[in-house]
Amino acid sequence: MTYRLFEEKHHATLYQKYRLTPPNEVKELVLQYLDKKKGPPHELAVDLGCGTGQNTRLFAPHFQKLVGIDVSEQQVQEARAIPGLDNITYRAGTAEELPFPDGSVDLLTAASAAHWFNAERFLKEADRVLKPSGCMALLGYTEHFSLHHGSCGDRLKNIYAEVMKALMPYRNTRVAVANSKLEDLFKAIPFPDKERIECIPVKMQMSINAALGLVETFSMYQTYLRTEPQAATALLESAKMRLLEEMGVSSPDTEMEVSTDYYCVLACKPH
Ligand SMILES: C[S@@+](CC[C@H](N)C(=O)[O-])C[C@H]1O[C@@H](n2cnc3c(N)ncnc32)[C@H](O)[C@@H]1O
Repeated sequence: MTYRLFEEKHHATLYQKYRLTPPNEVKELVLQYLDKKKGPPHELAVDLGCGTGQNTRLFAPHFQKLVGIDVSEQQVQEARAIPGLDNITYRAGTAEELPFPDGSVDLLTAASAAHWFNAERFLKEADRVLKPSGCMALLGYTEHFSLHHGSCGDRLKNIYAEVMKALMPYRNTRVAVANSKLEDLFKAIPFPDKERIECIPVKMQMSINAALGLVETFSMYQTYLRTEPQAATALLESAKMRLLEEMGVSSPDTEMEVSTDYYCVLACKPH
């Protein structure tokens, strides 16, 4: 089964606007792993479940060619519309059936996406397309964000937690796989050389608008919006008003400090 929860044009537009680009420290971790295990040349990397291409563009300067693949045609179209390096191409397709010859890929990445894949079929396909000593990097963050501003203490964090609690009934079960930091998928990787880094703490400056925009991209928010449009819109509007009030500011462009943890599963195909 392929999950098709990211198909609509307005969802893809939100993705382009609000999705996070993984931090440089995660990118460096992945590149250092690839260099240690395989080394040059860095000919081809493939970013699976690329969405609107934030992670694809991050890795593009480090490879001769980078292909972003997503099952959603709308996501791919949004990704293509963003100026990037000319070594990037985007294609509609699935992580379980990749359009590459055997042993041709140096690095496979998936940012906040691998929990949607069929683990068995994806891992078989990864094994087929990776070069000997080629690597995979499955990264992401859980939905546990901590918000801070001035002397607000835990009050902003609590508002965010209440929003997430309201969305819980609309959460697809696959999101729990991401929140487990891909524990079972990691165990299923057939390569003996693998590691799972569970906690890479990251702090970002993010406006109220950007933080709530990110929540809007979540599949569970979009499910809520389809089911109860007025309640879903009111949830974020009320969260915005409460954040403004607690922070004592009038502009939703005011920034907060947002902290979260990234995780990263790394694995290297035997030589
Ligand atoms: C949560 S989004 C992450 C997008 C982007 N990588 C990011 O970091 O924002 C997951 C993406 O995976 C795609 N997807 C889901 N199942 C897929 C599959 N089996 N093969 C390829 N893409 C898939 C969805 O269409 C969606 O764009």
